[in-house]
Amino acid sequence: MDVGQFKKIKIFDTTLRDGEQSPGASMNINEKLNLARQLARLGVDAIEAGFPMASEGDFEAVKAIAQEIKGVEIVGLARANEKDIYRAYSAVKYAERPAIHTFIATSDLHLKYKLNMTRDELYERAVSMVRYARSFTESVEFSAEDASRSNLDFLCKVIDGVIEAGATTVNIPDTVGYTTPFEFFNFINKLKEGVAGIKDITLSVHCHNDLGLAVANSLSAILAGAAQVECTVNGIGERAGNAALEEIVMALNVRKDIYHAVTGINAMEIYRSSQLLTHITGISVQPNKAIVGKNAFAHEAGIHQDGILKEKTTYEIMTPEHVGRQSNELVLGKHSGKHAFKEKIVSLGYLLSDDEIEGAFVKFKLLADKKKDIYDEDIDSLVAKSHPLEKYELKYVNVVCGDTVAPLSMVKVMIGDELKHSSSCGNGPVDATINAVEIIVNSKAKVIAYEVKSIRGTTEAQGDVSVTVEQNGVHITGRSAHTDIVVASARAYVNALNKLYVYNNVKKQVCSLEIRS
Ligand code: KIV
Ligand code: ZN
Repeated sequence: MDVGQFKKIKIFDTTLRDGEQSPGASMNINEKLNLARQLARLGVDAIEAGFPMASEGDFEAVKAIAQEIKGVEIVGLARANEKDIYRAYSAVKYAERPAIHTFIATSDLHLKYKLNMTRDELYERAVSMVRYARSFTESVEFSAEDASRSNLDFLCKVIDGVIEAGATTVNIPDTVGYTTPFEFFNFINKLKEGVAGIKDITLSVHCHNDLGLAVANSLSAILAGAAQVECTVNGIGERAGNAALEEIVMALNVRKDIYHAVTGINAMEIYRSSQLLTHITGISVQPNKAIVGKNAFAHEAGIHQDGILKEKTTYEIMTPEHVGRQSNELVLGKHSGKHAFKEKIVSLGYLLSDDEIEGAFVKFKLLADKKKDIYDEDIDSLVAKSHPLEKYELKYVNVVCGDTVAPLSMVKVMIGDELKHSSSCGNGPVDATINAVEIIVNSKAKVIAYEVKSIRGTTEAQGDVSVTVEQNGVHITGRSAHTDIVVASARAYVNALNKLYVYNNVKKQVCSLEIRS
């Protein structure tokens, strides 16, 4: 669909699927729902909500998103086999606009070493599975995994076949982030020349960032005629990630003269989406990250500051306000009432039950007693972590430390109805506390990353801590914020252990996650 002289580019968000494949980015069902609500506010055209065959947890999350989120296509991923496709449909069928995304690799490399199939067998499978998917829903996307390294003639043949079988979108992934902008531009053009039916479907691209070219390749594909891009908030995703939604959208916005394209994205929601994802996953973006990084609009050099003061456009091609980065997020304090608190929560994109609001309000009041100014980030960190299936609850932390004593931490953790105590030394108060919790929980998980940041940098600020643990190859990040960073660390660790517990007990794998692409 074109809008005046501009072409409309569909934004297919895969933060909840490919994005969740980032190490440490696992989200629980409530976190996924919160993010899906925010993606809907952001204005994406499609939300790839998960891979329902991968686990019970994924299935339930896709189903919950399909049941609740309206006005957006809700997509479930499926390998090109009947079981996956049926499972994906069973989860997305509740949506106003359900869609199935089925994929199979088309490169000779994958055919030979991964799939052990001939080209003819692959062709038959792709075509028959698209036909099968179409028997459930009108919107079916086919992805030719590793398309950018596939034989062009064979790829054209497969695309021709799946369009004939009813695919409404054909997606061209650069699965391993191998292509370059000029090459991808030509590749897309050749596909358009080689497949007559392409003009009747939505041509999509899905670029990975292994060479740091995912956004550039996606933009090149748009110039060549792609009408949909698949991307993730903050560019999270498998390995080096996917094309970053915010970068694509802002490149199209700022350089309309080049791309002649628009999206349905409300750019004012970009920063909030980025922040929410960071809060949920504990994965921060680097300070110099375009659009959403801490320094993306900071002008340090005197000559730049001088120019900005005289005329903003000397050094700014867009304003922070364009992407929703107002600095007036200070709204609540210790005198704020429940009504204002509730309004704030709603405006931040959360949908909480009355009981949850009650619980968050109590935490807010406690925080407001310790901290004068409460910012949006503080509220996010109070609310973003909802733990429907908490096994462990930290009840008490008491630390002795200083420059003349060995750090010693005493903790109490509730497991079910039982309150357990322990104490431990460590390399510092945080290490001692984590050791003491581990003595109780005995998870055998290894802490592989620890980060502490101050939410707004004064000494009265909350410390925002993320702790990533590893167990049997699974990486999970927990997060917490508190004015005492040892308490925040203990809570973040317990949060990670709770997520791990959910992962091990709820996300029972029902198929091998060979689809890590
Ligand atoms: O990178 C990839 O090829 C994928 C497909 C499943 C679209 O994620
Ligand atoms: Zn991918």
